[in-house]
Order: sequence, then C-alpha cells, then structure tokens
Amino acid sequence: MDGTLGAGGHAAGLLAGSEPGGQLLGLDVDPQALGLARQKLAPFGERIWLKKASYTSLPGQLAELGWDSVDGILLDLGASSMQFDTPERGFSFLADGPLDMRFDPSNPLTAAEIINQWPEQELADLLFRYGEEPAARRIARAIVAARPVGGTRQLAAVIERGQPRRGPHHPATQTFQALRIAVNGELESVEKILPLAVQALGPGGRLAVISFHSLEDRLVKEYFRRESKDCICPPRQPICTCGHKASIKEITRRPITPTEAEINQNSRARSAKLRVAEKL
Ligand SMILES: C[S@@+](CC[C@H](N)C(=O)[O-])C[C@H]1O[C@@H](n2cnc3c(N)ncnc32)[C@H](O)[C@@H]1O
Repeated sequence: MDGTLGAGGHAAGLLAGSEPGGQLLGLDVDPQALGLARQKLAPFGERIWLKKASYTSLPGQLAELGWDSVDGILLDLGASSMQFDTPERGFSFLADGPLDMRFDPSNPLTAAEIINQWPEQELADLLFRYGEEPAARRIARAIVAARPVGGTRQLAAVIERGQPRRGPHHPATQTFQALRIAVNGELESVEKILPLAVQALGPGGRLAVISFHSLEDRLVKEYFRRESKDCICPPRQPICTCGHKASIKEITRRPITPTEAEINQNSRARSAKLRVAEKL
C-alpha cells in the first residue's frame, strides 16, 4: 500500500519492482493527485486499486478489498511538489495564492480561517508548536494587526516586516509549515497510522516512512524505538511490569538520507529522512 500516492512516482516503482503479480492499494486525500496517479499507473491495469481516502482509513480499505494483510506500506509524508507548485493551493509564499493549504479540498478548515479568525494566543501557540518558530508571539501579533490577510504573498510580507532573516530560509518558512500541519491535521494522522500500519502488515512485512521535518520524524523514530523493545518500563525500574512485547524490528537504526547527487537533482529532497521497520 502506498498511503500517499501523490503523482504516483513511488507507486510506479513499487509496481515495477513487484512484477508480475504485485498488487498495490494507493490512497491520497487530494483528488488532483489521484488523477495524476491514475494516468501514470494506468499501464499497471489490474494490479492497482486507487482511492481518494486518508491513509488512516487503512483497516477499512483492507476489509473492503478482502485483504488480511499487506507486505509493505509506504508513507511519503507532507505536501507534494505539485501542491507546492500550484499557487491556487496556497502552499507557497513564493507565488500569490489564496490562504488554502488543504490537501483535501473537502476539508472545512483552511489556512485563511486560522489566519483571520483564530485568537492571537492560539495562533502564537500553533506557530510555536508546529513551526518551532521562536518569534511565534511577534508574528501572531503582526498577523492579527494586519487582518484581514488576503493571500500567501501578503501573509509572507506581514511576517517578513520587522523580522530579520535568520540563515538561508525565508522568515515565513516555519509559519507556512505550521499552518499546513494544522490545516491538514498532519501530526495526528501520523500518530494514528503508525500502529494501524504495523497491525496491517503480515509477518516480515515492512513499513517505510519518509518525513521532511523533525516533528514528523520524531514521531516515527520514537514509535519505532518503543515498538521494537520488549520492555518499555522506566530504565531505573529493576523489574519489568509493563508486559510490553516488541512488534517490529528497526531496519534503519539511523534514517536513510539523500546523497549529494540526489539533492543536486532534486533540492526538495534535502531534508528527507527514510525510516524502515519490519513486522516481527
Ligand atoms: C510527498 S507527496 C507524495 C509523493 C509521491 N510519493 C510520489 O511519488 O509522487 C504526499 C502526498 O500525500 C498526500 N497526503 C497527505 N496526507 C494524507 C493522508 N492523511 N492520507 C492520504 N494522503 C495524504 C498529499 O495529498 C500528497 O499528495
């Protein structure tokens, strides 16, 4: 199962690598992505099942297909290049677009609602928690003072005003990340899918997760660490009382990161981290 189909690049690789009989369930919440994936994967005909659904619906999807388990699950988290590069989707501050940022256009919450309606304190907390933005309070104050904020460029300008550039990144980078995470409930989805994915794998099946920022990667890392241990009692406790049993083994103690050559080819890969675990 590819839980984050996007344009179907990974899915095509999985299908080509599992010829002739490998079957693939592919999910994405974005109907536009699904359309691209359908086109790309059409040559694989009878071997694919593609659906507009969240990866968190995995158990129901498997039940519908009558599959007891799967051999592999891939999650390539976050937004796709197509989403970033379509100004109307509102993910990028490099182009002007509406404050949208929804992966799933039927989701009622947009970035505009957060930016123009949330109380300053809640906005600041969000920027701090999901953007790890040290200037969260100052930025929240500036946004509230500038309301109504109409689009991505205006939002980026409001953030940039009065904010010195720190390092190579635009000062709006972390705010945009925080908004996207909140609009799409990204961290909640990651927390929900990890145990469901492990449950859905057959013995020896593998779960591979690619994350692009430390908040996601931390969730995956901590889950893999905990679930690969037989006991999760506090380290100083002399006798185990938790009764916890390992359900996976970590295949990647350290995450796999892109090579220099990959980054040169695709600069968006630079912060990618791939972690893989195998069901016991
Ligand atoms: C980084 S892209 C994946 C790119 C893909 N691997 C490829 O080869 O083109 C992430 C995709 O996951 C989708 N997505 C995000 N959250 C999702 C969720 N909870 N369920 C299903 N798809 C999700 C996004 O809409 C986006 O298309």
